[in-house]
Amino acid sequence: MSWPGTVRMGADGASLEVLDQRLLPYAVRWLVLRTADDVRAAITDMVVRGAGLIGNVAAYGVWLAALEIFNEAGGTAFSSMTDFSAAVRRAAHGIKTARPTAGNLAWAVDKQLAAMEAAAGEQEALFILRGSADELARSEADACRLIGVQGKPLIEALSRSDRAVNILTHCNAGKLAFVDWGSALAPVYAAHEAGIPLHVWVDETRPRNQGARLTAWELAVNGVPHTLIADNAGGHLMRRGLVDMVIVGADRVTRRGDVANKIGTYLKALAARANNVPFYAALPASTFDLTLTSGDDIPIEERGGEEVRLISGETAEGEITEILICPEATLARNWAFDVTPAELVTGLVCECGVCRADESAIAALLGKGKSDSREVKQ
Ligand code: MRU
Repeated sequence: MSWPGTVRMGADGASLEVLDQRLLPYAVRWLVLRTADDVRAAITDMVVRGAGLIGNVAAYGVWLAALEIFNEAGGTAFSSMTDFSAAVRRAAHGIKTARPTAGNLAWAVDKQLAAMEAAAGEQEALFILRGSADELARSEADACRLIGVQGKPLIEALSRSDRAVNILTHCNAGKLAFVDWGSALAPVYAAHEAGIPLHVWVDETRPRNQGARLTAWELAVNGVPHTLIADNAGGHLMRRGLVDMVIVGADRVTRRGDVANKIGTYLKALAARANNVPFYAALPASTFDLTLTSGDDIPIEERGGEEVRLISGETAEGEITEILICPEATLARNWAFDVTPAELVTGLVCECGVCRADESAIAALLGKGKSDSREVKQ
């Protein structure tokens, strides 16, 4: 199968189609989003997920919200542009708050609202919003491609003649988490394409199994050797010398380099430190939140306990279903992310280069880049 992509424009030019990630790896189906509510629901229900993709879909969501508001008014002018943009801002707020942890979501929505300021009227606002969403998608995909370029030498440096480089990753920070390339997997794809022998240990990533369902699927589609492991296996593999490096993605990274990522990442970082295994987080500059110093200030999403109590899969009859894995009365809690303190992070890989996870190194690296992603988020 060829790579399907994660997002595309609807045939009518007034909608967005997104790959429904809830159905992977069992089915490749696209869902059409037309309204701000559709976009908010797609983000909350994790039809689309992954910090980068959420941001890009949200940017298109602000355009769709404006289109919806314009069409509801029958295509006639609002009494003032101020009224129109106030209505768009209200709808955009709903999208921005769909999930709390990924920094890219608020960043992308705010970027769109700032771009809209330049419009003198509704039609121009629609034009600007669509154009800047396209531009964001292009520039974020390019940032991810460059993360691959920057991270590939780290893999190359670990390459040996007698065996493949073993890389452990957690959750999904690949092509499915972005418009293209991914963050953690971008260096993996770049090294694989360059012919460097490598193999990826894929953490299953309970409770939603993004590793098992998404990372394993996209690595298979792209022909990258990999093996699925239980979340708890990483420490054992590291002690046995079977992990050369850990690369994870990030949902938000603070000014001092604390990394919020999928729940369970912190445990991998602790095991990596105890076993002298380098631990990298890869992210586009848009994932930095320079308003925050400590990772303790990153809001951690808590999702419904049902995601822990139930597990989904496909039956022999091809039906996608959920089954209970605990006693009916058992309560569960479900923190979706954790924070790995900067001290445990060997380095941060972004489109501008690789740096230590500390305030001065991050400031120097982002200062070198041309991206406006480093702007302090409000
Ligand atoms: O809950 P998700 O699937 O949206 O979580 C995001 C992730 O997949 C990870 O935390 C990932 O490593 C960073 S997103 C590029």
